[in-house]
Amino acid sequence: MKIKEMLEKVKQELESAHITDSAEAEWLVALTLDIKRSDVYALANKELTISQQKKIVAYLKKRKKHIPLAYIIGNAEFFGLSFFVNKDVLIPRPETEEVVSEALKQIKPTSKVLDIGTGSGAIAVTVAKKKGAYVTAVDISKRALKIARKNAKNNQVNVDFLQSNVFSALNNRKFDVIISNPPYISEKEYQSLMPEVKDYEPKLALVTEDDGLKIYKQIIKDAPKYLNKNGKIVLEIGYNQGEAIKNLLKQDFKDIEIKSDLQGNDRIALASLK
Ligand SMILES: C[S@@+](CC[C@H](N)C(=O)[O-])C[C@H]1O[C@@H](n2cnc3c(N)ncnc32)[C@H](O)[C@@H]1O
Repeated sequence: MKIKEMLEKVKQELESAHITDSAEAEWLVALTLDIKRSDVYALANKELTISQQKKIVAYLKKRKKHIPLAYIIGNAEFFGLSFFVNKDVLIPRPETEEVVSEALKQIKPTSKVLDIGTGSGAIAVTVAKKKGAYVTAVDISKRALKIARKNAKNNQVNVDFLQSNVFSALNNRKFDVIISNPPYISEKEYQSLMPEVKDYEPKLALVTEDDGLKIYKQIIKDAPKYLNKNGKIVLEIGYNQGEAIKNLLKQDFKDIEIKSDLQGNDRIALASLK
């Protein structure tokens, strides 16, 4: 079978499972063959080996059950770096790359940085890799921390990982910059998410109480104790949470900015300790 024939088969089978974005088929074939997505058409007449065909068909079977491709292949790209992912961690999102870009502007190679809710380690590992800063990362999930440690090792960076409920394990440590992409979806919003997210990504990484504000409230209330003078906070926020976050920040923080992502939605909150 040629690549172009396989591509057509994959497209049709995905459509039958209501997965209609044609890029999905291209990604599935490209990632299985370890080629660029753009090369799928350039190599369209290339014959697939039997083992390549078997691998594509096995992945297709999983994808038709709406398992996200990143979990099927066990890999997600984030900020040009490669991260192992499985069902114990959220698949890092492109919006979070924008949060990291903003955070990097606040970080020097000598900065002490804390990532709260590190998941796959995407934020912590990227900051350590790009800035060489001293990075501590916490998560309440032991299983997520195992993956994050593996990703730090694979990307050859040192990050101090700790199991912690927000700040609970940090004693009297202090940081220059606190970054967090915490769970921020309400139970009600969660019910309307696509099956790829709702059925496969960890609920602990997505949902929290208080209309999605619970963890922000914990972080913002205690952050002053854990920040050095002139310390900064950088939060990923939900598209409808800008006002609420601004209100939470204004007691102890100044220079509060709510920035939009490339889709035009509120996505990043930045502030400095008063
Ligand atoms: C939205 S995910 C973010 C993962 C990763 N930082 C990213 O941006 O891709 C939120 C993470 O927060 C963790 N988490 C949830 N509640 C927490 C808590 N109370 N304390 C620390 N981490 C928590 C979850 O286990 C999950 O890994």
